[in-house]
Amino acid sequence: MKVLLAGATGYLGSYIAKAMLSKQMDFKAIARNPQKLIAMGIPAEQIIEAQLTDRNSLKGICSGFHAVISTVGITRQKDGLSYMDVDYQANKNLLDEALESKVQQFVYVSVLNGEALQHLQICAAKERFVKALKASGMPYSIVRPSGFFSDMTEFYEMAKKGRAFLFGDGQVKVNPIHGADLALVCIDALKEQNTSIDVGGPEVLTHQAIAEAAFNSLDRKAKITYVPNWLRKVVLRGAALFLSKAQFGPIEFFLHVMVMDMYAPAYGQHTIRGYFNELKRTENTAK
Ligand SMILES: NC(=O)c1ccc[n+]([C@@H]2O[C@H](COP(=O)([O-])OP(=O)(O)OC[C@H]3O[C@@H](n4cnc5c(N)ncnc54)[C@H](OP(=O)(O)O)[C@@H]3O)[C@@H](O)[C@H]2O)c1
Repeated sequence: MKVLLAGATGYLGSYIAKAMLSKQMDFKAIARNPQKLIAMGIPAEQIIEAQLTDRNSLKGICSGFHAVISTVGITRQKDGLSYMDVDYQANKNLLDEALESKVQQFVYVSVLNGEALQHLQICAAKERFVKALKASGMPYSIVRPSGFFSDMTEFYEMAKKGRAFLFGDGQVKVNPIHGADLALVCIDALKEQNTSIDVGGPEVLTHQAIAEAAFNSLDRKAKITYVPNWLRKVVLRGAALFLSKAQFGPIEFFLHVMVMDMYAPAYGQHTIRGYFNELKRTENTAK
């Protein structure tokens, strides 16, 4: 099976690329900046330079591929583009090309509870793409992860600064998943047909437990401030008024999911404690 991967320069996509390399799978990766992939050890002949938001740059890009995996989406706003421009339209451009080339499977990474959260800009765009994919006739797998370890870095950074800020009483539960574990779910999803896969990591933890693990990894006593819900709502309203739509999107998503249980069927091996220790080791090596 020949796979075309979009999103390989990102957190999850890079783990998918590494896993496909180690499994010696036949694949190519699309990037708007190929240097990022070369730096990751992806051979130049396996890289296709293209801009997914520009349909014209994609002509024939899916030709000869059996499957497409896309992890493309905005997580931290960099380009001033909207979720509709990227999470919906860029993926739709790729899907249209995949349909023209008669690709036989499309794996797309959305978000857990995305259907219920369509009042949020990010989920509205992702679910619009999910609807387009389902309606297209293309065989699909929708992967719906709970949250990524990359986002847990925020807890580690707060612990480094000496104080963690949690919303409410800190008892909201999540089971974030490491990119290496989720990459295997995405690759396995190539074999599924017309399915939606809710998935999280092996540990269901409260935000408080995650913050404590971050302090622990740094051998520090946990110092936590609990931010009341009314303050979260004030910040949310203020941000909606004063920020542009594109700037507001990530904040809107963050301020909503930080007060929601976000856990899904457990998968994988990587633990939060192991992840924080990995961050600490990387920092110590860089010193
Ligand atoms: N983080 C979470 O907790 C979480 C949870 C559930 C689902 N998800 C979803 O999972 C997916 C992957 O997340 P991630 O953390 O791996 O994201 P990431 O590290 O930000 O990577 C996003 C990828 O999308 C590409 N991209 C973004 N804007 C683009 C644009 N304007 N044109 C072309 N490419 C663009 C990036 O390319 P460049 O490197 O060129 O910018 C990168 O390859 C996202 O759709 C995210 O919403 C995330």
